Amino acid sequence: MTLSFQAPRGLSGRIIPPPDKSITHRALLVAGIARGRSLVHNPLNTGDCVSTRSCLRSLGVSIKEIRKGQGEFSLEIEGRGLWGFREPEDVLDAGNSGTTARLLTGLLAGQKLFAVLNGDHSLQARPMLRVVEPLRSMGAEIQGRNGGRNLPLVFVSSSKELLPIDYRLEVPSAQVKSALLFAALRAADTVRIGGAVASRDHTERLYSYLGLPLRREGEWLSVQPVTEVPRFELTVPGDISSAAFFMTGALICGKELLVENCGLNPSRLGFVEVLKRMGARIEIEEQDSAGGEPRGSLRVLPGALRGVEIQAAEIPACIDEIPLLAVLGALAEGTTRVRGAEELRHKESDRLAAVDRLLSAVGGRLDVSEDGFNVQGPQALRSGLIDPKGDHRIAMSAAVLSAGLSGAVAISGFEAAEVSFPDFVGMFRALGGEVS
Ligand code: S3P
Repeated sequence: MTLSFQAPRGLSGRIIPPPDKSITHRALLVAGIARGRSLVHNPLNTGDCVSTRSCLRSLGVSIKEIRKGQGEFSLEIEGRGLWGFREPEDVLDAGNSGTTARLLTGLLAGQKLFAVLNGDHSLQARPMLRVVEPLRSMGAEIQGRNGGRNLPLVFVSSSKELLPIDYRLEVPSAQVKSALLFAALRAADTVRIGGAVASRDHTERLYSYLGLPLRREGEWLSVQPVTEVPRFELTVPGDISSAAFFMTGALICGKELLVENCGLNPSRLGFVEVLKRMGARIEIEEQDSAGGEPRGSLRVLPGALRGVEIQAAEIPACIDEIPLLAVLGALAEGTTRVRGAEELRHKESDRLAAVDRLLSAVGGRLDVSEDGFNVQGPQALRSGLIDPKGDHRIAMSAAVLSAGLSGAVAISGFEAAEVSFPDFVGMFRALGGEVS
C-alpha cells in the first residue's frame, strides 16, 4: 500500500503513544514462565507483540483478551512455570520481531523439549550468534543455519543443567542481555553479565518489581536462579520510541506537541537528551510509575535546531531513534554527526543505508560511513517517493519528514508501520496532517 503524507499546516496537538513494545514483550514472556495467572494491562497488540503471543501459545501458554469500556484492553496469561512449556507441534514464528526471537531463545535454551524458531525474510538475515554463543557456553544445545548465526534455530532437548557463566556482552544489546537474564533464572548457580548497563533496562526493572534476585555491581549484573517466578499485574506505559516520530514532526515544522502517558525510563531517553542539545525545548513531567517504569508527559515546544555530535556511548539509549536524527539533522542548522552506530546495519533493514536512500529520495544528502553519518543542514528538501523495504521505523521516519517540506512524501509498503504503531495514520491526521 503506497500512502502519501503531507502536513501543510504542520503537525501539532496532543498524543497518547501506543503501548511500549519492549515492555509488552517482556511482560508477556515473563508472565509465560510465571506460576499462575498474570494480568498485563494496555499491552501493545500489534505485529511484533502478536508474534510473541503466538509463540507463547504454541508453547502451551494460554492467553485471553479482556476488553472493557473506553478501549481498555488487557491480557490474562496463564503462566506454565519455568520448566513448563509444552513441546510445540510446529515451527515457532517470530515474524519480523528481533526481540521475540532473541528473548525467546533465552527462554528456550536448556529446556527439555525440541523446538524450531524461525522468522520472516528480514529476521532470517539478522545476527543470532550473539545470543546463541553465550547460551551454548551455558550448556544449551542450539543448532541453526550458518552454524547458529541465523534463523531458523533448533533447540534440542537437554537433560543437563544450565551452567553459570560470567559473560561480557560484545554488543551493548538489551535483547542479548535479556535473553541471558531469562536463561539465568534456570541456571545451576549465579550468572554474571558484564557491559550490561548502557542498554534499555526493562528486564532488570521487571525483575526488581517481581522481587527476583538481581543485583547490579558497577557494569555487571548478577542473577541467581529461582524455583519460581511469581504471577503479577502490570500496566504498560506509552512507547517513547513511537512518540519520537511525532516529536520530530512537530519540531521540524516549529509546532507544539504534548505527549501523554508515556514511558520515561532514563535508558530510553537518549533521544530527548540529543534533542535538547540540538536546542529543542522539552518539558518532562514524571507523574507515576507502573511495574517499576516511570511514566508521565513530555511537552515539545517550538525552537530553532542546530546540528550536534552523537558518540558511541550514547547510541544504546537512542538506538531506535537514529533515523529520526538523520531527518532532524537535514533540517537543523549546521552538521549532525553520528558515530559508533554500526548496530543500525543489523536492524529490520540496514538503517544507515536506509537513511541515505530516504534523504536522497527527497533531494537531500547525507554522507554515510561504516558506523554512522554526517548530515549538513538545513537542506531544501522536495517531494519524493520512498521504499522503506519493509522497515517500520524507516516508513514512519519518512512520513513525519513531510512536516519539514512543502510537498508530500509518498511511501510504498506503509503497512510495515503496523509492527510497532497500530494507528500511525489516524494519529498523523489527528495532528493536522493529510494522508491519501
Ligand atoms: C529492544 C532492544 C533494541 C532495540 C529494539 C528493541 C528490546 O535492540 O533496537 O527495537 O526490546 O530489547 P538491541 O538492544 O538489541 O540493539
